[in-house]
Amino acid sequence: MTSTLPFAELHLHLEGTLEPELVLELARRNAVDLPFRDVDSLRRAYAFADLQSFLDLYYANMAVLQRPEDFADMTRAYLTRAAASGVRHAEIMVDPQAHLARGVPLETVVDGIASVLATSERDHGVSTLLIAAFLRDRDEDEALDVLDRLLALDAPIVGIGLDSAEVGNPPSKFVRLFDRARTAGLHRVAHAGEEGPPSYVVDTLDLLQVERIDHGIRSLDDDALVARLVADQVPLTVCPLSNVALRAVDRIEDHPVLTMLDCGLHVSVHSDDPAYFGGYLDDNLAALTTALGMTDEQRRRLAAHSIQASFLPADRRDALLAEIDAPSD
Ligand code: ADE
Ligand code: ZN
Repeated sequence: MTSTLPFAELHLHLEGTLEPELVLELARRNAVDLPFRDVDSLRRAYAFADLQSFLDLYYANMAVLQRPEDFADMTRAYLTRAAASGVRHAEIMVDPQAHLARGVPLETVVDGIASVLATSERDHGVSTLLIAAFLRDRDEDEALDVLDRLLALDAPIVGIGLDSAEVGNPPSKFVRLFDRARTAGLHRVAHAGEEGPPSYVVDTLDLLQVERIDHGIRSLDDDALVARLVADQVPLTVCPLSNVALRAVDRIEDHPVLTMLDCGLHVSVHSDDPAYFGGYLDDNLAALTTALGMTDEQRRRLAAHSIQASFLPADRRDALLAEIDAPSD
């Protein structure tokens, strides 16, 4: 039964899981004044022209996250929904700088999230790892300072990421940050080739030495880069509904993810900011089935790629892969 295939969610911004209902509930709880009176008017704002227009709302809605329990409630809500969508392991990005810039202490963010992640496998059947993502439209010195503070706090992070406004903020800006993370023994991922050119993907690999590329779809504009990504089996965490919502791809029917899969790229499918882009992992997979005729065999390969590209310890990774190989009844 394909519906029980285990998937790893590897490209997920925790703040992008804030559903409108929870935004309004937290706004009431914390007496935060929002420009939206009800769920419908907030949902109507979810029509984006590009990445920046989304980021403006994404950061604005974070105003409702004030206390550890707000972060905990958001994390719990995501895990409940993710488990229902077939996610068995999630590597969750959080944007610490976005909260620090609003005056929310790092401990509030980390403690709230970590309190739920600590028992996610027992409570939700979803193992979890946390990744601190750095905002590329802010300067590197701030990122270095925040990384040092996370390490000093002994925050339970396994890696760092790089996100926010891509164009004009090239990977070369963050060489020292990624060097420091590598020296500290952290994993490294980065957004590249979402809106930015293929050269950003090349530089992200060469200068930042990442283990995965988040998005990477613009790599298709450079044949030599595609050949390299295939040869090196570089994991690309692709987010189809996000790409359509942010107009990187015109229509879901035009999305290249299955073509990428069939040409040997190590792609997997993820939900990015599911509350904003029309759905969770299962919604993304359903869209690929309906619009692109995804086969059961392609679905299995996407599931296997997601587990293989995870930072899981070998025993759980192999156990999840074995479930994919097991004959279905
Ligand atoms: N932060 C949250 N979602 C993002 C995306 N799709 N691209 C870049 N930064 C993000
Ligand atoms: Zn993303």
